[in-house]
Amino acid sequence: MAKTKTQFECRSCGHISPKWLGSCPSCGEWNTFEERTSAAKEVEHKARVSGLESNEKPQKLSEVETSEKSRFESGIAEFDRVLGGGFLPGAYVLIGGEPGIGKSTLTLQIAKSNPQLSILYCAGEESAGQIKQRAQRLGVQSDKLLVFNETQVDKVIAEAQKVNPDLLIVDSIQTVYRTELSSMPGSIQQVKECAALFQQLAKKKNITTVVIGHVTKEGDIAGPRVLEHMVDTVLQFEGDKNYTYRLLRSLKNRFGPAQEVGVFEMKEDGLTEVSNPSELFISDKTEGVSGNAIVCTMEGSRPLLIEVQALVTAASYGTPQRTANGFDRNRLALLLAVLEKRAGFSFANHDVYLNIAGGFRLSDPAGDLGVCCALVSSLLDKPINQQTAFIGEVGLGGELRTVPHIEQRKKEAAKLGFGNAIVASGKGTNGERYIRDAIKKALG
Ligand code: TYD
Ligand code: MG
Repeated sequence: MAKTKTQFECRSCGHISPKWLGSCPSCGEWNTFEERTSAAKEVEHKARVSGLESNEKPQKLSEVETSEKSRFESGIAEFDRVLGGGFLPGAYVLIGGEPGIGKSTLTLQIAKSNPQLSILYCAGEESAGQIKQRAQRLGVQSDKLLVFNETQVDKVIAEAQKVNPDLLIVDSIQTVYRTELSSMPGSIQQVKECAALFQQLAKKKNITTVVIGHVTKEGDIAGPRVLEHMVDTVLQFEGDKNYTYRLLRSLKNRFGPAQEVGVFEMKEDGLTEVSNPSELFISDKTEGVSGNAIVCTMEGSRPLLIEVQALVTAASYGTPQRTANGFDRNRLALLLAVLEKRAGFSFANHDVYLNIAGGFRLSDPAGDLGVCCALVSSLLDKPINQQTAFIGEVGLGGELRTVPHIEQRKKEAAKLGFGNAIVASGKGTNGERYIRDAIKKALG
């Protein structure tokens, strides 16, 4: 009998180590090692699901047959756009996101938006009755939607081959499991094994498969890296729980653009598409208040207007406060230093609070100029001229750098009534060269 040897495997990236480690040398994550025995591994390799074995042989590229694959749509325009124009048959898609963000809602809504599709929805998280309740709330009536309350992966795969649906939805990958493996559902071993089986199903049987995965507190999908390599497309569903808007972002896409973003709003009767997202993040109540600036960021191929709010007050005692909400704190410190050294505005005796309205996270460097102007506007207690939008990155020398898609951003700003854009000068764009000039222009 083979000796059972204990090994430890990183839950995040699958790195194997003979002993337990606090931090993974491969991916750098902490406290991710789980014990597994090599005997368990043998079982894993022996036990393959029937119907997926193949007798593939190498073939010449010219002889490979391609069936003219045409995409089919989910019917949810924002979703289809993020996918790159709908689903490609046989595609393997992962949708990640925090619990409660709306992953189940979104996937269930496909049955409403495209009732022609035959869908096999495998649910491990809710009972069939609960799904029906939700479907009623969403107005889903399709008779081509099959709900399957099963979490044993072998049974799910057998059923999928029998039904041969247009779309298989697995909600979620953390609840499905193989009985041959000793570890719990949701462990790296189970997630990896099940994900690999669904991959074979998608590729060999040409069944388009969507798996849902929860993300951990750190924002990773549990058992993340391994999963991301296996699938064709990784979509991340994000948003602030305190707000109703949701962003669906493509992090990886073999069949379409990456970093594309779809915008939704969570309403009483499910997710609705937001065709003009800029309006979502701008309030009309703050006109004429100091410390507010409108910036134009790019989300994927789409310009988005965002409101930056700064509050600068006299520091009462000790080290002044620096608080940033929706913005990188280090970047804020850097911009404050540039303002002090290059434009002569000192914040040394002031507390600084920076907030991006609507719970949005501003990470586009094109937002720098607007953040700087909001800070100075609050410092001087002087509102920024109305109808002004800011587009530009700030360099350490106090110079303004141009950013991609200037024309598209300006157009979006003008469309929403911010025709007076202050932009960084660059090739082909007439604009400001230094931060101090831009501030002078914005604050008169
Ligand atoms: P859900 O799709 O269950 O999230 P996930 O599958 O990502 O865990 O979304 C649940 C949340 O969405 C819950 O807080 C209630 C809310 N919701 C609505 O606001 N309207 C609706 O029509 C539905 C179905 C859910
Ligand atoms: Mg769910």
